[in-house]
Amino acid sequence: MTDLDLVNEPMICRLGESRKPAEPCSIVIFGASGDLTARKLIPALYHLFKEKQMPVAFRVVGFARREKTDESWRQELRIALDQFSRTKPVDETVWREFAANLVYCQGDLTDAGAYQKLECLLTGFGSGPLRENLLFYLAISPSQFGEVVEHVHRAGLLNKDGAAWQRIVVEKPFGHDLNSAHALNNELTRFAHERQVFRIDHYLGKETVQNILMFRFSNSIFERLWNRESVDHVQITVSEKLGVGGRGGYYEEAGALRDMVQNHMLQVLALITMEPPVSLEAEAIRDEKVKLLKSIRPLRSDEVLRQVVRGQYFAGMVGGESRPGYRQEIKVRPDSHVETFVALKLFIDNWRWSGVPFYLRTGKNLPMSASEVRIQFRSTPNVLFAAQCGERLDSNALTLRLQPNEGISLRFNGKVPGTSLAVRPVRMHFSYDSEFGAYTPEAYERLLLEAMVGDATLFIRRDEVETAWQIVDSIRAGWEGKALTNREFYAAGTWGPIAAEELLARAGHAWHEPQGRK
Ligand code: BG6
Repeated sequence: MTDLDLVNEPMICRLGESRKPAEPCSIVIFGASGDLTARKLIPALYHLFKEKQMPVAFRVVGFARREKTDESWRQELRIALDQFSRTKPVDETVWREFAANLVYCQGDLTDAGAYQKLECLLTGFGSGPLRENLLFYLAISPSQFGEVVEHVHRAGLLNKDGAAWQRIVVEKPFGHDLNSAHALNNELTRFAHERQVFRIDHYLGKETVQNILMFRFSNSIFERLWNRESVDHVQITVSEKLGVGGRGGYYEEAGALRDMVQNHMLQVLALITMEPPVSLEAEAIRDEKVKLLKSIRPLRSDEVLRQVVRGQYFAGMVGGESRPGYRQEIKVRPDSHVETFVALKLFIDNWRWSGVPFYLRTGKNLPMSASEVRIQFRSTPNVLFAAQCGERLDSNALTLRLQPNEGISLRFNGKVPGTSLAVRPVRMHFSYDSEFGAYTPEAYERLLLEAMVGDATLFIRRDEVETAWQIVDSIRAGWEGKALTNREFYAAGTWGPIAAEELLARAGHAWHEPQGRK
């Protein structure tokens, strides 16, 4: 091997390979008749099984009120899998082997007897890990979390200490403000340690979101630029082409700020801006995220009006399809003032980011579906090219495309070939698809596996969730009692109210149009 070969030999550092595999366990899904189970959980478990990542022995127990047999539940899930599996067609042999581990337990969440029945069923799996190592997935309303956890504990299925492990996985919405999140956390930790509680934010299960830390801390050329000296501003866009559809009832209680900013967007912001953790341990990473969230400058009410734009869509066309206005959606009040769009400008008051604006925007019924982070660098002094190329020379930008077209692009200036001195922006692209092929596991696959293994890195810690609520609460306080004005409505299929453009224009900035799915 020559020196050159050595240089070209890729250094592949496989972090996951040294990790212990998941131990045998039973996964109990409360709310097993719901949408999440059929759409996400079962397809994710099926794929983990197919990829041989499930423990050597496992059971999946579906707990719900409707009468079903094991067989009828399996059949239902098999039909749903045709629709929701990321790989098609479904492999019948793999499915049959997998489905043999699916068991249904009919019961009412409020009935202590039902948990006794669950206990008997689990005991029927033997006295080993299938009875003792238990993952409780609460795919139910948060108002039922406390009660379910108490019943599970009283049935002898959830202990704070012991040789085996028991864990609780919870879905959002995790409260609707700081107080309710705090109360919910207290309910969960009455019968479980914080380390047994795994709060899901499915954005953390996305490959591209996990790559943020790898990208930042393993590439010296970017790591050096990641601060106020080099970065002019940052834009985070999570735009969705769909409206609220059948989720009007939920959305009326949530709105874009609670639905997307409190969790997914603040998580992405934290990963983009946090300090390097002391190790890759869950607590080290989560400590840094909390520190970062705490350094986001809280907004006073008068600042909310200047720095936060909200909007609600009215009827319009999205991709050639006509869409109703939000107020015409099912289970939405006809005079609703709930926001379906929000754009905001935040500052992080710490040494690294002082003075750098962070712009976040998200909304429903926007022109495309796209999630991306754009790091806009400062420009060079334009003393050399101004005469030939005009005052404004494009400044460098790095775009992390979280979805779709997953990848990273770097934009820089280059000379246009020819005799004249023309400079124009060009791009370097990295695409997951061409580099790694089409293997894109669903976020829930990774998250379920991590919960079984007991690694909490990709889950939200109590103080994280509460700090994020503090930020969101201060914004909501600024909106309190203020109805939407005409300027705050936008036609479905547009990029939100005009004020979202003005928010950036005031600082000489402009939103970058993402490369999304139109
Ligand atoms: C969910 C929100 O958490 O995230 C939805 O409740 C939103 O309103 C969804 O559509 C977006 O997730 P993704 O993975 O499609 O970007």
